Amino acid sequence: MGQFKKREKFIPYNLPDFTEAEISAVAETVRSLWVAKGPRTVKFEEEFAKHVGAKHAVAMNSCTAALHVSLLSAGIGPGDEVITTPMTFASTANTIIHCGATPVFADIDYKTGCIDPEEVEKKVTSKTKAIVPVHYSGQVCDLDRIYDIADKYGLFVSEDAAHALESFYKGRIIGHKLKGTACYSFYATKNLTTGEGGMLVTDDDEIDAKARIWAGQGMSRNAWNRYAKGGSWRYDICEPGFKYNMFDIQAALGLVQLSRIHEMQARRLKIAEKYQREFAKIDAVEPPFVPDYCTHSWHLYVLRIVPELLTIDRDRFIEELNARNVGTSVHFIPVTSMSAYTKRFGFKKGDFPNTEKHFERIISLPLYPSLSDEETDYIIAAVRDIVEKFHK
Ligand SMILES: Cc1ncc(COP(=O)(O)O)c(C=O)c1O
Repeated sequence: MGQFKKREKFIPYNLPDFTEAEISAVAETVRSLWVAKGPRTVKFEEEFAKHVGAKHAVAMNSCTAALHVSLLSAGIGPGDEVITTPMTFASTANTIIHCGATPVFADIDYKTGCIDPEEVEKKVTSKTKAIVPVHYSGQVCDLDRIYDIADKYGLFVSEDAAHALESFYKGRIIGHKLKGTACYSFYATKNLTTGEGGMLVTDDDEIDAKARIWAGQGMSRNAWNRYAKGGSWRYDICEPGFKYNMFDIQAALGLVQLSRIHEMQARRLKIAEKYQREFAKIDAVEPPFVPDYCTHSWHLYVLRIVPELLTIDRDRFIEELNARNVGTSVHFIPVTSMSAYTKRFGFKKGDFPNTEKHFERIISLPLYPSLSDEETDYIIAAVRDIVEKFHK
């Protein structure tokens, strides 16, 4: 084993991938003076729907907004229960509460990190109205099993696809042939970014129409062009809606990013493949398991340490990576361990054993298109160095 040499420069955990094309598109939009929701947002919706093979796409200011609107449009409200995973960002569960409904958590499948369909079925009651499965890290949930449960009990499915742009289930891109909705995030760290942003995708005409109303202050359709020539000043507020729409500066970024998505994904895949290959050779870490039915989008690279073989825990492992100038993150601190949730629902340690075991072991490593081969090799060497130093 060669001697590990610490690099001078810190490798950030994540960086967006922008070219001159994104910069020009934003500049052109600003020059056009149409900076709020307008023609670029409409075009981005059309192009995105085409990309994932869906009938409708509704652009919003975040995935959180899309998740909220998705449930509202499906009629979820007070008294209803919605089943989701503890291994997610808080907004997946927060938005259920925002609807006045109750989130019910089903533990993950330890192998994949995604919600376990068997656990989902155990949590179904007469109040259950929907399931919000999360395609965790870009890994896809076992959708056939989830939709079987949804069909059996008449439940709506809103897929949290924040990580799943360019994920495929059994060869079908997420978003295509949807029975419910899929909600994407375009936050700065995502595979496609508009700075902040999100998209709700559906094949259902009624959900599409309602989502546009809920996300646009509750205004009647197409109110965005009421200031254009021939546009009408008259509008109705049909629901007490939200100000959730995307605007054209974001959409300008999104259109260019979407045109570059295959190029950006190819680079992510190359890095992920190298990680998978090299980490499989190190006994004290566990590379992510990808089931046959899944084509991973590699939004996150979630490495698990094997604490049984180490003298240090995950937190110390992260400190050691940081000391070697490697930025990391953790996805996620389980929602069910957050004080807002323990206070409200009384969750305690041991309630979600697979989620807890997974959480104690995970480290998200840098994975983004501009990460160089040299940086990728360095990160692998840093992990190897830590394992060698702290092996039992
Ligand atoms: C699984 C998941 N769902 C939803 C969201 C919310 O996305 P946004 O920041 O676009 O609202 C995130 C954010 O990272 C996420 O990771």
